[in-house]
Amino acid sequence: MSKLDKAALGEPADSAPSDADDAFLSVRDLRIHFKTDDGLVKSVDGVSFDVQRGKTLGIVGESGSGKSVTSLGVMGLHRSATNARVSGEVWLDGQELIGADPDDVRRMRGRKMAMIFQDPLSAMHPYYTVGAQIVEAYRVHHNVNKKVARQRAIEMLDRVGIPEPDKRVDGYPHEFSGGMRQRAMIAMALVNNPELLIADEPTTALDVTVQAQILDLIRDLQKEFGSAVIMITHDLGVVAEMADDLLVMYGGRCIERGAAEEVFSAPRHPYTWGLLGSMPRLDREETERLNPIKGSPPSLINVPSGCAFNPRCPYADLPKDNVTRTVRPELTEVGSGHWAACHMTQEQRERIWTEEIAPKL
Ligand SMILES: Nc1ncnc2c1ncn2[C@@H]1O[C@H](COP(=O)(O)OP(=O)(O)OP(=O)(O)O)[C@@H](O)[C@H]1O
Ligand code: SF4
Ligand SMILES: [Mg+2]
Repeated sequence: MSKLDKAALGEPADSAPSDADDAFLSVRDLRIHFKTDDGLVKSVDGVSFDVQRGKTLGIVGESGSGKSVTSLGVMGLHRSATNARVSGEVWLDGQELIGADPDDVRRMRGRKMAMIFQDPLSAMHPYYTVGAQIVEAYRVHHNVNKKVARQRAIEMLDRVGIPEPDKRVDGYPHEFSGGMRQRAMIAMALVNNPELLIADEPTTALDVTVQAQILDLIRDLQKEFGSAVIMITHDLGVVAEMADDLLVMYGGRCIERGAAEEVFSAPRHPYTWGLLGSMPRLDREETERLNPIKGSPPSLINVPSGCAFNPRCPYADLPKDNVTRTVRPELTEVGSGHWAACHMTQEQRERIWTEEIAPKL
């Protein structure tokens, strides 16, 4: 049994990854809660996952499910929020980061781990040119002069599809359009060939051609440097194309995870069924394409008791073996390396998927 499977069963994550086949990134029981005037916001509430070198983990889930806060936690950037309460473990290449000296974590950012932020403005300083910021990011990790670093910045701007990169390198972030700023930020994240790249909605603001270009760039990084990638996206098409493993988040928790192929071909949680059902289908008429999940995401302050998906789940009233609705379902193994947090019996899950859900997708 892998360390992650042990963690899913509630067994302690005792030590740093040590075996050769162990993960480059191991997150164990990560919790990030924010103290606010309205109460404690449980944005991330006990999330565990692994990412191997050269592999991509896709994280999906509705808006507000805790995807970005999870990634900020891995990067150690939750520390900028003074109201954040953090627990759990984040092991990156054998080093635990949650309890580490903030200066050590800062030094790891850039080369060891880098992030493409959902909001490009939050990642770029308004008073410095785009080029100066990429040059600075590069020189922190490379002992080269400014001229060499500037050449590298221009090359990166070119690779993310910015026209006339030798001129745009001297522009300020506000002189870039939204899509261009997103690309410049991606150039900055990739300039040091990071060993772990977290891409938070990297292609949302971009048109399809540029989107394909950026995904290719991330693939190249993986191929050349064996980087581990976390891809956060609303676009299940991107996940299907890029991810080796998949983690589905709901209300700050992981409700299903496993090999992407397996989760796509035999999902075992009603929320994942809903996500797949809401995926646009090019082979259907416009009216048949979108079937959004009814109801709204749960409050992260007053999370519903029992299963957080309960108020929206069409199967909430189905009789389950010896469990009451007030008990929260934990992740249980529903296939090899495939875990889901739902009280249904295996027979119920398989029957409903095969007879009711799959034929309609
Ligand atoms: N500093 C903070 N203080 C209080 N609540 C916060 C803070 N940062 C994030 N949250 C809350 O945590 C929850 C999870 O936010 P997060 O940004 O991770 O969602 P997400 O899954 O990335 O959503 P989206 O798909 O819209 O990007 C949200 O309800 C958000 O309001
Ligand atoms: S535990 Fe119950 S409410 Fe939650 S997803 Fe499963 S069937 Fe639906
Ligand atoms: Mg987000």
